[in-house]
Amino acid sequence: MSDERAPGGPPVSKSPRSEPSGAAGIPGATGGPGGKPSPRPRFTAPRIIEMKRRGDPIVVVTAYDFPMARIADEAGAEILLVGDSLGTVVLGYESTLPVTVEDMLHHTRAVTRARPSALVVADMPFMSYQVSDEQAVLNAGRLVKEGGADAVKLEGGERVGPAVRRMVEAGIPVMGHLGLTPQSVLAFGGYKVQARGEADQERLLREARLLEQSGCFSLVLEGIPARLGGLVTREIGIPTIGIGAGPQCDGQVLVSHDLLGLFLGHQPKFVRRYADLGEAMREAFARYAADVKARRFPSDAESY
Ligand code: KIV
Repeated sequence: MSDERAPGGPPVSKSPRSEPSGAAGIPGATGGPGGKPSPRPRFTAPRIIEMKRRGDPIVVVTAYDFPMARIADEAGAEILLVGDSLGTVVLGYESTLPVTVEDMLHHTRAVTRARPSALVVADMPFMSYQVSDEQAVLNAGRLVKEGGADAVKLEGGERVGPAVRRMVEAGIPVMGHLGLTPQSVLAFGGYKVQARGEADQERLLREARLLEQSGCFSLVLEGIPARLGGLVTREIGIPTIGIGAGPQCDGQVLVSHDLLGLFLGHQPKFVRRYADLGEAMREAFARYAADVKARRFPSDAESY
């Protein structure tokens, strides 16, 4: 069986992102399948900021494992977000609250092993940055050092400003997240559109400016009125990445399981489904099951 690879086994080396890249030493030169050079140079935090200056819309999707990362990267995603949404769409929790730093490390490593040219942003899970700034920097550092992430994301405004500063001082690019921040679901009393009133809108704009001043290189805006998404986008110099925040944001992010039709739970209004992979999988599994039951699988050609 020496000619065999494990079924679905990826052609990949051990700790890909920490190794020197392609033959010419160009960052991202090993992003393609089987170690082939990627046609794109690696996306960096400064490059993402530059995209806003050029008016180039930024494509962000979530990824939690190796194949999803590689396919999304090859399809043109510019940022891969290892979101703590993995808690609901992959791990089966009811919210993102149970997700741990170890969970995030496990999935961030799977994504960075795909050697994407997209920037990999790892979410900081609930209670990994709220207790102290010191713990926040240490946990952010783990996602970069042990997970291979290029940047981290955390939720909140004023209260996370000092932690953001410390991370940025330590050399870690940080993405902010305002509006419907899912880690505050208990405080919000559910997943509800945020900042509908004038006072809340002023506060969100103030916090967006504060996050920019604290050193964030980009900012996710989730579940807010489209007009506010546009206003924040015009008022700050770093890119806004919208999810249910209207078309004027500098970029858009969707949870990959939502856009692929793989998530079986509630679909918010802002989701556009580009495929129905859930149905395709159900049908494939059913055909396989029927073939096994009828002894149609494996055939002679599929046997040794
Ligand atoms: O966890 C996640 O996937 C996110 C996006 C929805 C922005 O935070």
